[in-house]
Amino acid sequence: MTEGSTAGEWARRDAAAVWHGFTQMAVYEQSTPVIVERGEGNYLYDTDGRRYLDAISSLWVTTLGHADRDLNRAARDQLDLISHSTLLGNGNVAAVRLAEALAEVVPVTEPHFLFASDGATAVEQAVKIAFQYWHNQGVTDRTAYLALGQAYHGDSVGSLSVGDGGFGTDLFDPLRFPVVRTPGYDDPDWVAKAVAAVDEHHPTLAAAVIEPLVQGAAGMLVTDPEPVAAFAAAVQARGIPLVCDEVATGFGRTGAMFASELCGIRPDIMCLGKGITGGYLPLSATVAASHVYEAFLGEDLGPRTFYHGHSYSGNALACAVAARHLELLAERGLIERAAIAAERLGAALDAVAALDAVKEVRRRGLMTGVELDPPPGASRWGRKVCAAAVRAGVLLRPLGDVVVVMPPLSITDAEIDTIARTLAAAVDEVAAEEASA
Ligand SMILES: Cc1ncc(COP(=O)(O)O)c(C=O)c1O
Repeated sequence: MTEGSTAGEWARRDAAAVWHGFTQMAVYEQSTPVIVERGEGNYLYDTDGRRYLDAISSLWVTTLGHADRDLNRAARDQLDLISHSTLLGNGNVAAVRLAEALAEVVPVTEPHFLFASDGATAVEQAVKIAFQYWHNQGVTDRTAYLALGQAYHGDSVGSLSVGDGGFGTDLFDPLRFPVVRTPGYDDPDWVAKAVAAVDEHHPTLAAAVIEPLVQGAAGMLVTDPEPVAAFAAAVQARGIPLVCDEVATGFGRTGAMFASELCGIRPDIMCLGKGITGGYLPLSATVAASHVYEAFLGEDLGPRTFYHGHSYSGNALACAVAARHLELLAERGLIERAAIAAERLGAALDAVAALDAVKEVRRRGLMTGVELDPPPGASRWGRKVCAAAVRAGVLLRPLGDVVVVMPPLSITDAEIDTIARTLAAAVDEVAAEEASA
């Protein structure tokens, strides 16, 4: 290695030049960040060659592991053809192939795919599509959205608006548009309250937006398929588009390809992102059912057109990788395998759940939140526990005092046991430090 041979030196250069999201840069360097140089399988390697088990799928995106031979080949093959050409007014073969392949698996009727690059943008597009869907039918006063408490849908202003507060984003409240907000999945009566709000507010609603089964960023709050199905039925009975944000839950994370399938629902609009390329490239999609899509058809340059687009929409490199990723999920039986791995993870985490310092373990499929139970006055337990796990070679990241465990679909039984063992030891270490402080 010719430059920056130590992790400390790389952290210094990093802090001097890069601005990290959701990170206080004044203390970034001192917090001993992992500076990744390469990845292989379920592991990341830092600049000193230390390896870390990627137990958070690089923030919920990686599905097959890192540097997968077959996905690498798909990217290289596409590179030799073309990386990118615009989707505004023209098409590309890779995007067509991906849309056709996705159409076979998404639980959306006769879907069309509006591609973008990040989950937030997929939600932003969904919000605007829902608004214009009504507008194109001559209904111009549906400006409200129903969304759940503790929801997280991304950080652009529209997605932030359908999302609830928290995560330090409350200062943006003046920029958020008002939303009919009903409780999140931590309220056992969430569905009754949400249905009541639909009944009350339906004439003003452009759409209802949910994260089916799991509110991930809220700290892995979970619900069951039945209430989600009841909510969907109430929304769709009123003719209101149901937007399912499956940016986090999609592509096998909850034990099926999509959480909507487990709930037996068919969204009118669906948001995909994160795992869509196996965690390789920034790609997302807003999926519209035929009745939504068809509301936008009209005369050329006319007012029914969706006047929205992004430079990298339908990026050929990302689409080729995403299409190969779908094939590999099937070829390797990874959706089924992930469901089995999830049961193993649940069993392995029983020992963690039994610890005094752990309040609750919540899980749907491989999406898991371990909520710590810090003694009064103790601070930053989530951070401390994750730091201890990272020192022991398992990369974890907390959401407050909830430790998120969300390994790639390719996780092995032995690696699951390592995650559980390391997490238990990390919790014990922090609890012991606290007790002796
Ligand atoms: C449910 C959900 N929607 C949207 C997003 C935003 O996705 P991105 O970070 O790709 O913008 C996230 C990210 O965590 C998410 O969990």
